[in-house]
Amino acid sequence: MIHASNFASFAQELSIKACFFAPAAGCNLLPIVNPRPTMKLLRIDASARLDGSHSRDLGDHFCAALRDAVPNLDITVRDLATKPTELIQDTTIVGFYTPGDEMTSAMRQATALSDQLIDELQAADTLLLTVPMYNFSIPAALKAWIDQVVRINHTFSYNGTAFTGLVKARQAYVVCAYGAAGYAPGEGFEAANFLQPYMQFLLQFLGIDSIDFAAVQATTADEQTVATNTTTAKAQIDQWVMRYA
Ligand SMILES: Cc1cc2nc3c(=O)[nH]c(=O)nc-3n(C[C@H](O)[C@H](O)[C@H](O)COP(=O)(O)O)c2cc1C
Repeated sequence: MIHASNFASFAQELSIKACFFAPAAGCNLLPIVNPRPTMKLLRIDASARLDGSHSRDLGDHFCAALRDAVPNLDITVRDLATKPTELIQDTTIVGFYTPGDEMTSAMRQATALSDQLIDELQAADTLLLTVPMYNFSIPAALKAWIDQVVRINHTFSYNGTAFTGLVKARQAYVVCAYGAAGYAPGEGFEAANFLQPYMQFLLQFLGIDSIDFAAVQATTADEQTVATNTTTAKAQIDQWVMRYA
């Protein structure tokens, strides 16, 4: 639970990573022979560029590597550039805060896309978000999706004092592209990075306790710099995939 009055400790609280394997009560313990990893991955692409996008390239690299490591891999792609998410409207918001049995047909219609996007989100156990920096933050296309899926009693709850994230996925990977350099922690442009801290906070708020970021910076620099930075980001992504090997 996240206490509204104590957001400072909330990131720390949720960053604790744990993995428990417990037999169901009354079950005999059977040896597990060569368990085959399974994954239901929801990939969300946010770059407006369909060709030459560095964030999509990192996402493609991750998915290709995962296909080798995870035999039972099921990927759903939500491309926010080719299929933009409608912005929420007045009736959408009223619908979000109206109990199901009191909703009018107009409210149901206005919240239908949110229902669909949340169903898609809740079917995933792992998320991949490919995110370019636009004007020091995330693209509007991604914000429109976020406004549809961050919904009380569906993806988070609030009991008057504390928030609880309700998203079922336990792991999120976020791959980013920045036109300039210097956005990493400790670097000169860190204060202008409203992309990574925002995505970190949001995903934690939704209840995802393990969040990894990889980025290619300086995508507008010379070819050699871009190639070097891309290689470094892909090596980091390869390390993530090793977890499933
Ligand atoms: C609308 C727009 C705004 C941008 N704003 C920034 C910015 O604030 N800071 C930055 O470093 N790069 C900025 N860029 C550059 C992109 O972050 C860079 O081109 C990145 O590679 C885009 O991701 P993509 O290659 O996946 O399309 C901007 C690009 C666009 C199109």
